[in-house]
Amino acid sequence: MTKQVDVAVIGAGAAGMMCAAVAGQRGKSVLLIDHAAKLAEKIRISGGGRCNFTNIDATPQNFLSQNPHFCKSALSRYTPQDFLALMKRYRIAYHEKHKGQLFCDDSAEDIISMLKAECALGNVAWRMPCSVKAVNKSDDLFRIETNTGEILASSVVIATGGLSIPKIGATDFAYRIAKQFDLKMVEPRPGLVPLTFDLASWEPFVPLAGIALPVEVETGVKKARGYFKEDLLFTHRGLSGPAILQISSFWEPGTPLIINLVPEVDIAKALIEGKSSSKKNLGNQLAQWLPSRLADEWLIVNGFKSDARVADMQDKQLRQLGASINRWNIIPNGSEGYRKAEVTLGGIDTRELSQQTMMTNKVPGLHFIGESVDVTGWLGGYNFQWAWASGVAAGQSV
Ligand code: FDA
Repeated sequence: MTKQVDVAVIGAGAAGMMCAAVAGQRGKSVLLIDHAAKLAEKIRISGGGRCNFTNIDATPQNFLSQNPHFCKSALSRYTPQDFLALMKRYRIAYHEKHKGQLFCDDSAEDIISMLKAECALGNVAWRMPCSVKAVNKSDDLFRIETNTGEILASSVVIATGGLSIPKIGATDFAYRIAKQFDLKMVEPRPGLVPLTFDLASWEPFVPLAGIALPVEVETGVKKARGYFKEDLLFTHRGLSGPAILQISSFWEPGTPLIINLVPEVDIAKALIEGKSSSKKNLGNQLAQWLPSRLADEWLIVNGFKSDARVADMQDKQLRQLGASINRWNIIPNGSEGYRKAEVTLGGIDTRELSQQTMMTNKVPGLHFIGESVDVTGWLGGYNFQWAWASGVAAGQSV
């Protein structure tokens, strides 16, 4: 049986539910469609089950896009404070964890229940699980063919997200629709993802898996430069932790990361200045600043003897050792890919969309929101803020 609505939202994740609720509460008839059996799985698993639902300090500078100005309009019209006001209405308790990152006190389920309730207030209808076979436009109507029948809609909002974590239902649906309607794309790639190194060069570091330490990491140059001061984690296959997840979104294959393993200390200077009075060996001296297992391994990898006395070293050698620690230059061979990536960089080219409404310029009535669009936030609640803000922008205009 054919159903006709004002708005069909495809993808009932963060952006899709927000958009459907806003459009529904404006009096539009809205149908929310998702192929998953379980609702909003990404919200559920986010932030270790507590959902880092926004960042109180979010600004457009926290987002990557080929057009960094695109996100400004939606972000300024729906701010972290707006989302907090909504949370307050539902009495959902939250706390700040680190650098403006806000998490639920109890569970990410609270956010899902809130969005469901907001959809109910807008009388949003649901089709879930439901597979969309085709979306076509004839005259002023979109015709959506699904395994549960045909849907006619005046507007369609694509909110099916990116490619990250296929295991929980991520698909390339948005990109296929973009291709069908001849919309430009920015090549998608995994973001906020652990980085890997070739097996041979990583072998000496494998025993260090599990060691974490605060570092500074940078990559790229000028406008494309990324710099973060966060924790780094050694893994069996490479590097992870917030510092690496953040920098991964800026990293270009074939280029190095520069990591300062002891940001607070100029190691060469400290070693040389303390040399004459030092009775320590190199291993013990470095263990003042680095975890001792890392200090020992570091000396071996860089051709130093852990038991060599600092006092016996030449300044040139100490400078070399200091540089290796304060400016570790290392080229990843890749990343852990979409299996582990928190987000997908790239997506629908923002030049195809109105920044006010998220509607495509070429196909009136067709919108893209959330992670499907070439707007990607840093780690720390920014991606949900973009999902809410772009969802509201579309919901207010459909
Ligand atoms: P989202 O992925 O949420 O929703 C897409 C929906 O579309 C899904 O319900 C899916 O089932 C559906 N769908 C896909 N293909 C379809 C098809 N072909 N037909 C029908 N339906 C389809 N961000 C943040 O700000 N703070 C955090 O704490 C975290 N934590 C986090 C942890 C992990 C493990 C991951 C993988 C990601 C995060 N993120 C995050 C990122 C955040 O989850 C993500 O950016 C948003 O969920 C994106 O919202 P969207 O609504 O665009 O897509």
